[in-house]
Amino acid sequence: MADQESAIVYERPDRNLAMELVRATEAAAIRAVPFIGRGDKNAADKAAVDAMRKFLGTVDFDGVVVIGEGEKDNAPMLYNGEHVGTGNGPSCDIAVDPIDGTSLTAAGRMNALSMIAVADRGSMLDASTVFYMEKLVTGPEGRGVVDIRQPIGENIRALSKAKGKPVGEMQIAVLDRPRHAQLIEEIRAAGAGTRLLLDGDVAGGINAARYETRIDMCVGIGGSPEGVATACAIKALGGHIQGRLAPKTDEERQKGLDAGLKFDHVYEADELVRSDNTFFVATGVTDGGLVEGVRRKGPIIRTESIVLRSRSGTIRRVIADHLAERWL
Ligand code: FBP
Repeated sequence: MADQESAIVYERPDRNLAMELVRATEAAAIRAVPFIGRGDKNAADKAAVDAMRKFLGTVDFDGVVVIGEGEKDNAPMLYNGEHVGTGNGPSCDIAVDPIDGTSLTAAGRMNALSMIAVADRGSMLDASTVFYMEKLVTGPEGRGVVDIRQPIGENIRALSKAKGKPVGEMQIAVLDRPRHAQLIEEIRAAGAGTRLLLDGDVAGGINAARYETRIDMCVGIGGSPEGVATACAIKALGGHIQGRLAPKTDEERQKGLDAGLKFDHVYEADELVRSDNTFFVATGVTDGGLVEGVRRKGPIIRTESIVLRSRSGTIRRVIADHLAERWL
């Protein structure tokens, strides 16, 4: 079997696939708009999933969903293992989150976005059996300087030194959850400030790695799939990411072990995604620190997206105007 697999030569994605995939996140974001602030997160998610799937079907690639909307039985679309794309072209792993921040969308809050990450086939860590992962994300200055095994205070001081920025000006993003009460206390005790996220630690991680934001580091426990997707973006940004699985129960831990996952192990960026050929796209659903949300301007629907590609190290912002009548 191993020999057979090693004999397969996949075509690698070598053009800017993300520029085509952005159509799918734009479509998902536009279709989610009628559900913003309507209190029904499942309806918002379904609209975004349907739109993303339709557009993915038109892109020339052979994608396998490694991180999707769950198992086939619970998610009629974009389930883990599903093949997407036309089947022609490069073979890829794909991670989709038609809306990262479904509750934010349903409540009409900021920072909901639609995202897709792509990497060479077989390169993304399949952590679907374990829901949560502890993460640490910084920009390039954090490489070889901070480590998830170190106390947060030490990491803050080390990064502050590497960045030449006083500790008192450091801003650390953390999901606002009871499980982070002690972490939040420790960050403040170290002299840094917190940026508490209601939801959406993919955007939080990306903002920690971008040079033009005020966030210096994103830490804490969030979704494992989001951790792998974030790693695809961080590779393009040249930043630093580490993850450590955080199972909630012994049963979940056992399922993870059966699936070949490692616990008490720090997954470095190259283990989260074993490829240096990654793509990441995200389109704003509601306004946020990373991208603006969808807005209507007369006959036009305007979307803003971010498109990242690791091989070229490019970050593009794509503002697209869509004729609203085509979306009725
Ligand atoms: P969904 O939009 O899929 O609900 O995810 C939002 C999110 O905030 C992620 O960004 C984050 O990784 C995860 O949920 C955290 O999980 P929890 O809300 O259980 O703390």
